[in-house]
Amino acid sequence: MAMEIDKKAFLDSLGGPEAASRMDSEARADALESHMMAKLNESKSGTGEAAPTAPKKYPSVAEVEAQIETRKYREGVGFMYVPRTGENVKRLTPMPANATLYDFFKLRFMDTSNHVLQSAALAKKNGMSEEIILACLLHDVVQEIIRTDHGWWGAQLFEPYVPEKVSFAIRYHQTLRYYPDPSVGYEYPDLYRQLFGADYVPPPYIQATYQMVRKHPWYMDARLVTVNDLYAFDPKAVVSIEPFEDIIGRHFKQPKEGLGNDGSPVAHMWRTIARPDQPL
Ligand SMILES: [Fe+2]
Ligand SMILES: [Fe+2]
Repeated sequence: MAMEIDKKAFLDSLGGPEAASRMDSEARADALESHMMAKLNESKSGTGEAAPTAPKKYPSVAEVEAQIETRKYREGVGFMYVPRTGENVKRLTPMPANATLYDFFKLRFMDTSNHVLQSAALAKKNGMSEEIILACLLHDVVQEIIRTDHGWWGAQLFEPYVPEKVSFAIRYHQTLRYYPDPSVGYEYPDLYRQLFGADYVPPPYIQATYQMVRKHPWYMDARLVTVNDLYAFDPKAVVSIEPFEDIIGRHFKQPKEGLGNDGSPVAHMWRTIARPDQPL
């Protein structure tokens, strides 16, 4: 399936280029998907009007694979390393000494913070436990450096600093995203049909992980991250880390030397986020 995107019409649908530039990459990808779907339905009906009964058309796995060689980068690379806008990267503000989680949110998690803050806000609104709210707040920020297997990378990044249940939920939300759970109203996301192909089957390690997590006493903790993993974006939503300061204070062990200087087994991962322009 090849489809021409009218860039101006797409940006207009987001409220103009400025509003679009404020969206993070995941939200933009989702909006692009909706826009393509709307256009597709229009072109099918042939009248310029949306055809409400027309089924959505998603690419096949083979079509998704054929897109690989149309890109200058691999999809697994993190958002801060390769901006999906095609624009040049910007010079980053140096991190302060003794950098805290807040500094990383403010100065480095530019492409993921809107999504995770919206997700944590929804979890809070839904009355989730503090551990689940914290897991939602942290669940995707590792996608700044790497997207492939981001559940495992993300859990590793936070493991030394958060309760075990939080890193468990971060690690396994990735796997559970592929599996519906009607008991909590979680459905397989349309975004995944678009991203992976309509006929996609998760690889054996994901299937095996799902079987393990499904029987685990903490299954619901990871599951509730997926329930609050919000892809709908609201460009007018005011997102701030402030409402989560108490929860972070109670459950996140901020190292006094600063993240990256603390000699933890994952300090290098924080330094990698802090200094992404460092060649070696
Ligand atoms: Fe995720
Ligand atoms: Fe997410």
